[in-house]
Amino acid sequence: MSLIQEIDYGTPESKSEKTVTLTIDGAEITVPEGTSVMRAAMEMGTQIPKLCATDMVASFGSCRLCLIEIEGRNGTPASCTTPVADGMVVKTQTDRLKRLRKGVMELYISEHPLDCLTCSANGDCELQDMAGAVGLRDVRYGYDGARHPNPGIDASNPYFTYEPSKCIVCSRCVRACEEVQGTFALTIAGRGFNSVVSPSMEQPFIDSECVSCGACIQACPTATLNEKSVIDIGTPEHSVVTTCAYCGVGCTFKAEMRGDELVRMIPYKDGKANRGHSCIKGRFAYGYAHHKDRITKPMIREKITDPWREVSWEEAIQYTASEFKRIQAKYGKDSVGGITSSRCTNEETFLMQKLIRAGFGNNNVDTCARVCHSPTGYGLKTTYGTSAGTQDFDSVEQSDVILIIGANPTDGHPVFASRMKKRLRDGAKLIIADPRRIDLVRTPHIEADYHLPLKPGTNVALVTSLAHVIVTEGLADEQFIRERCDWDEFQDWAAFVADPRHSPEATEKATGVPAELVRGAARLYATGGNGAIYYGLGVTEHSQGSTTVMAIANLAMLTGNIGREGVGVNPLRGQNNVQGSCDMGSFPHEMPGYRHVSETATMEMFEQFWGRPLDSEPGLRIPNMIDAALDGSFKGIYIQGEDILQSDPNTQHMSAGLAAMECVVVQDLFLIETAHYAHVFLPGSTFLEKNGTFTNAERRIQRVRKVMAPINGYEDWEITQLLSNAMGYPMHYDHPSQIMDEIARLTPTFADVSYEKLDELGSVQWPCNAAAPEGTPIMHMDGFVRGKGKFVITEYVATDEKTGPRFPLLLTTGRILSQYNVGAQTRRTANVVWHEEDRLEIHPHDAENRGVRDGDWVKLQSRTGETSLRALITERVAPGVVYTTFHHPSTQVNVVTTEFSDWATNCPEYKVTAVQVAPSNGPSEWQEEYEELSQAARRIAEPLVAAE
Ligand code: SF4
Ligand code: SF4
Ligand code: SF4
Ligand code: FES
Repeated sequence: MSLIQEIDYGTPESKSEKTVTLTIDGAEITVPEGTSVMRAAMEMGTQIPKLCATDMVASFGSCRLCLIEIEGRNGTPASCTTPVADGMVVKTQTDRLKRLRKGVMELYISEHPLDCLTCSANGDCELQDMAGAVGLRDVRYGYDGARHPNPGIDASNPYFTYEPSKCIVCSRCVRACEEVQGTFALTIAGRGFNSVVSPSMEQPFIDSECVSCGACIQACPTATLNEKSVIDIGTPEHSVVTTCAYCGVGCTFKAEMRGDELVRMIPYKDGKANRGHSCIKGRFAYGYAHHKDRITKPMIREKITDPWREVSWEEAIQYTASEFKRIQAKYGKDSVGGITSSRCTNEETFLMQKLIRAGFGNNNVDTCARVCHSPTGYGLKTTYGTSAGTQDFDSVEQSDVILIIGANPTDGHPVFASRMKKRLRDGAKLIIADPRRIDLVRTPHIEADYHLPLKPGTNVALVTSLAHVIVTEGLADEQFIRERCDWDEFQDWAAFVADPRHSPEATEKATGVPAELVRGAARLYATGGNGAIYYGLGVTEHSQGSTTVMAIANLAMLTGNIGREGVGVNPLRGQNNVQGSCDMGSFPHEMPGYRHVSETATMEMFEQFWGRPLDSEPGLRIPNMIDAALDGSFKGIYIQGEDILQSDPNTQHMSAGLAAMECVVVQDLFLIETAHYAHVFLPGSTFLEKNGTFTNAERRIQRVRKVMAPINGYEDWEITQLLSNAMGYPMHYDHPSQIMDEIARLTPTFADVSYEKLDELGSVQWPCNAAAPEGTPIMHMDGFVRGKGKFVITEYVATDEKTGPRFPLLLTTGRILSQYNVGAQTRRTANVVWHEEDRLEIHPHDAENRGVRDGDWVKLQSRTGETSLRALITERVAPGVVYTTFHHPSTQVNVVTTEFSDWATNCPEYKVTAVQVAPSNGPSEWQEEYEELSQAARRIAEPLVAAE
């Protein structure tokens, strides 16, 4: 294995369809108009020396190393800033050019510290490379000249250092921060020889605007910006391409290794979801894989009050199988079930549901998508016929109006947010419907045209009033509707939304959004060109989550914004493989490929292939499993990679349900909160230790490749296979590629997917079959999957969760960039530097009324429970609304969330809880007890880890 070296073409690719033919060093080449001479030369294999140019950012022309000669033109222009022209004749190597380039390099080297042998970038430094490329053998000015200002090394960021003495002021970092990331955290301070790169207001990196995406480090040609891991371990020597295991963007990375040690993660330019960019989590937050809390040996205990007993894999598997068999013999075959993970691979998820359906003999399988995007599946399937988003991420580059509802892309989906921000800086308009002033409302060089700060729980009223304006003002795309949708249903629906009770003026009281803002936003979306909707959990996690998804789908059909580039309805999926876990049949009513368990032909096919009779009745959803456990009819559960105790609502109810079961099996990396109620702990493997595939928010199936051996001994799919065999349902896979072959054989939308194809194409978006052998970037191009698009009437029904004198504020929850979900991974990385604890955002008026100061401990109380955390006073939330993240188990904000859920899918209503906030002295009693319990659990685990 060797290090994968991607070609740096020096300047970005031109998207022009017009081509230009020129001659470079005697050879003819044809390239798109707008291409630089530097890039054209590189495309034919000629690397013109360069320092300030890199193909991730626009050219700048400052270093003067890339000089060329052009026939008929005077001087020696920079090839990075000179566009190609028809008939142009270029020379890249003449005596004059060689002399000039050497002179430039002499100047750079004369003021560069010559500590190459001990420099962390030795062997991986473009300055070194260029000195070699121009044949520099001596420096006439000596090496003792004046130096650029050197304010000293800034090591404040936990992941990288900034060493200004090595800076050549090429500005690649500044441009990467602006153009690729869109944060504008860096500037060149000072002038001329005194120029120096400076984060924000000449602050240390850690205190600056920097979000640690790493784009500047990747752009830096020297060791000025360098990963601390490279400084510690040395430069990498081989790499493997794999997929990030954090969010639904699905960034592709090169895992760069030295031996079996991971040195760094470098975003892969060929990655079609991320195009060479990353966020802090994917690039840096992988340290959890070797954290001391990781459990690597199976453990069992008869009672949850007993200490854990470390056992062999064989004993753990036999014990689990015999327990499940005992329970089924005593309480019936439906008394057990399982939960699949949206963090595991498609193959692992497929195997889990296969074990439950064919091995356990029931459909009691559910997934954590239940608590996030199940309404997306329901809503989009009902209206369009497919349970997935309609576009690829590239599509945003063609959008003219972007409507974001209930999503916070810069925190939740940062790499896609950077691409979106680029399009917004280039002129697209922006509408945001969110109770909070999320970053995108106003961020460098971007300001939302409309921010609709709706009250939590009123999405349906708001989206229906947007439709009201479009219908009543005659802005609908009638031609599209007549051609593509059911016209009769449309007419009924149009009459419904046109009713004056849906006007912005009528709904203003409920939504809190001024009517004129709603009218302006509706007009802009309907008439502003390509309109694209992006939404998140702020849409789905409501009692009317499915209704809002359908209201959004209606809006896109109404305006003809579906079925081409630049438009569409795009759920921003939370976890890395939440799309995949749904695709793979993780819901109790659906087989892989979203086919209902009552479809006879489908079930017969699976029965024949799997060799077991299958149940045609839907099984239990997660909340039903917990209720059934409390009723005494559900006794055993196999939970793979999901911390239901922390991520599901009403923690007390969940813990009581788990405590009522006789065999709880948790397969995970750490002793997660749910494991406190487990009888068997099966140690899981990280994405670095396994082969498989993930499917991202654009339906893109991508390879996960093993870069190191699993430290627990098995990949997760192997553990499921062991258990299945022990249960008496044989499985004999040698490699996940065989599982994918089975998925393809049994799932029409995956029919043409194979590891060979994924290795060849990099990735494919489903449907991928005979009709679309290379996948489907944009859905519903020639018609909806269900035939005619279906307009669904979306009556607004206020949630039963109401504010009142006792609970006058509305709590809504969300994520922060540096942390991930319940924090099991990110809390075990240096990311904790940015978010040590969950904080409660509260508006200054509400804080003042309660005598709360910034940083004070406050008690957050609802009808369900209470917790304490510190307050953060901010105008990001409106008066009457409070907000917090749910990353830390010591806060467990789900103790206050309610049991209300989406009417169609049971997705919990996390986004609306009536609460009261009052000053407090510190953590609640239960939090202190809980902390003690966690410490005790860790103490039990520690000797086992130490014994390794
Ligand atoms: S890490 Fe990212 S955000 Fe921070 S300065 Fe570099 S490019 Fe900008
Ligand atoms: S820090 Fe690196 S990329 Fe930035 S100006 Fe200096 S040498 Fe160039
Ligand atoms: S945006 Fe998501 S997929 Fe990409 S690096 Fe960050 S966490 Fe990973
Ligand atoms: S690479 Fe062209 S001027 Fe620096």
